[in-house]
Amino acid sequence: MKTLIDTAQAMVAGGKGLLAMDESVDTCNKRFARAGIPQTVEMRRAYRELLLSTPGLANCISGVILYDETIRQTRADGMPFVKVALDTGMLVGIKVDSGAKYLAAHPGEKVTEGLDRLRERLQAYAQMGAHFAKWRAVIAVNDVNLPSPACIEANAHALARYAALCQEAGLVPIVEPEVLMDGKHSQERCQQVTEAVLHSVFEQLYRQGVVLEAMILKPNMVLAGLACAIQNTAAEVAEATVQSLLRAVPAAVPGIAFLSGGQSGEQASSRLNAMHTRYDPPAGPHASPSKCALPWPLSFSFGRAIQHPALEIWAGKEANKPAAQRALLHRARCNRAALQGDYNAEMET
Ligand code: 13P
Repeated sequence: MKTLIDTAQAMVAGGKGLLAMDESVDTCNKRFARAGIPQTVEMRRAYRELLLSTPGLANCISGVILYDETIRQTRADGMPFVKVALDTGMLVGIKVDSGAKYLAAHPGEKVTEGLDRLRERLQAYAQMGAHFAKWRAVIAVNDVNLPSPACIEANAHALARYAALCQEAGLVPIVEPEVLMDGKHSQERCQQVTEAVLHSVFEQLYRQGVVLEAMILKPNMVLAGLACAIQNTAAEVAEATVQSLLRAVPAAVPGIAFLSGGQSGEQASSRLNAMHTRYDPPAGPHASPSKCALPWPLSFSFGRAIQHPALEIWAGKEANKPAAQRALLHRARCNRAALQGDYNAEMET
């Protein structure tokens, strides 16, 4: 367990975050289609090579989350992607759920599947060199009847079963209960639902015997729905998000790494920055008497909010690769700056 605890701490150490590049084949193809990129195995491989070989990425990124197809792939010169990541100093993670499926008898709600044969799959990924794994649950919200207690409980239970299996296999589980941004609900409603979900998740983690010191929580920020007329300031988002986490996440958890969930790159960076201008990580190097100390470091595990500009610029063309890598590194640097409270709009000009 000591190794797992060390790995979990390393995932959120040094003012760095995680790069989620674990889109399933379907999700990756949808994003390629929108950007006019052919949806082939080779294009997906070439794109992942572009991301992983971005010069300087490891200065901002402690680990990368891969997908089953990607963890088996190699660079054009034959070097396995796992070795590319490890050689540049990044830990390797793997998405192991098999996606969110409709929850029977609960219209509009989903439960994440993938527990069948998970023990064997986790062992295989550990042998391929993975250090950690990820499982994402999605929780839909409205102002009336969603989420149902059944949806929250089913997802929390699956997350806890997954997390216990990960620790048994020697992998650090990233536990990701995502309260979705779609809808008209207010920030207050998101906060209420986020807290209910986190309480249920930690109750189930406790029941299943998961060692909290050897996991990472990947939550949503507390945000009004995308279609809500009132959108909050970065400071308001920071305050509500940290308040919910303080209420629901045990101090034993070694780190919290946010998902971006459909926020723009700039929004995600500025909200993360607002958390770090107001709160300090535990024994942080920038500890300030004017800030409130938190029990865990707050970091990022963004997918779209880091990758999106790079994908658009690349557009499937080899000649665009250097510019796309610069765009990726820029977003990674903005988020690294946000972890010090040093991000500002001027970085975007
Ligand atoms: P986004 O940051 O795009 O939400 O992706 C993070 C992730 O890993 C979702 O599972």
